[in-house]
Amino acid sequence: MSPFYRKVVRAGIPVTIVTLAVVLSISPRVRAADGVDVPDPRIQKGLSIAPVPLNLHGKDEALVGLGSYLVNVAGDCNGCHSAGPPTQFAPGGNPYFGQPKKVNPATYMGGGDDFGPLIPGSASIVSRNLTPDKTGLPEGGHTLAEFTQILRTGIDLDHVHPTCTGAPNANCVPPPFNGALLQIMPWPSFQDMTDHDISAIYEYLGAIPCVEGGPGEPPNRCSLASARVIWIQPGSLAGFGDAGALVVAGNALGPVPAGMRVTLYWQDKTAGTPWTAAPYTALPDSKGIWYNEIPPANVTLSHQYLVYATYGDSTSASCTYLGNSAFNACP
Ligand code: HEC
Repeated sequence: MSPFYRKVVRAGIPVTIVTLAVVLSISPRVRAADGVDVPDPRIQKGLSIAPVPLNLHGKDEALVGLGSYLVNVAGDCNGCHSAGPPTQFAPGGNPYFGQPKKVNPATYMGGGDDFGPLIPGSASIVSRNLTPDKTGLPEGGHTLAEFTQILRTGIDLDHVHPTCTGAPNANCVPPPFNGALLQIMPWPSFQDMTDHDISAIYEYLGAIPCVEGGPGEPPNRCSLASARVIWIQPGSLAGFGDAGALVVAGNALGPVPAGMRVTLYWQDKTAGTPWTAAPYTALPDSKGIWYNEIPPANVTLSHQYLVYATYGDSTSASCTYLGNSAFNACP
């Protein structure tokens, strides 16, 4: 595919302008009845109608295009896998109100549409979040093999609602329904898709943006919180901190959960002391920036110090103060 076309797709410029160039350059072809190869028009269509920005990095663009067509046109996956009809379309973009169609990116394929219980008092059937998570794999981290198995057999690998063994309750599905299988989800139709079509859907679902939430999904499914040290310098240079302390700044990347603190560890490299945690733990500000210090009692400004920080499960790279009484930036 031509770089020009890639650029256009990424920029979200209406692709109709370049349709001719694309039709000439696109590679995957289908064999027409007369035996002549022709481009699969669904690829182009799929790329042009995708309602969210696509991350094509490391992706097969033709598969993504076909997947988009199957998800958005043929399968109407978002018709059930958004959070429900009231928020499926952006304000002012509800085609059922006669407005020009605009799918709501905030709920697109994020799941959460509640179809209610199969019989009163049993588990509600709620559509799942099919967007990629922080692993980058679609559908909350499932592999292509798992995804194929789900579509072909309807098996619920997450065991969200087992079959009731006694009286129905809000966590189980009553017989004759089989709780090991996905309910409502039209897998009995989708199971007969070709392997190629299933791979295309999988490839597309890996290219759409992550949405938070959905049944059984952990908080912060979209990104890893991570810690970074930015600089270390004497408090006298920084203009704050205790006299004689070494002041450290860093940032917490990713979602900043309320109340989650950053712990600073240091080691006097010159004296060979063990790692020590700073007594104070810093709270990142709204941009994730935090400050801390190695207390003056532990500092000899002509010594070298190593520091690192932890934030949730994440550990930063270490950073060195060179014993030079200067500003030391961290790589
Ligand atoms: C008629 C509504 C409906 C449509 C259309 C639909 N789904 Fe579903 N889907 C559901 C529901 C509801 C569930 C959860 C079922 C349950 O909990 O028993 C589900 C579950 C799934 C799961 C299992 C997720 C997991 O975490 O294991 C996958 C995968 C899936 N759907 C993919 C798709 C794809 C791909 C499409 C479009 C080609 C699609 N669905 C279209 C309703 C639908």
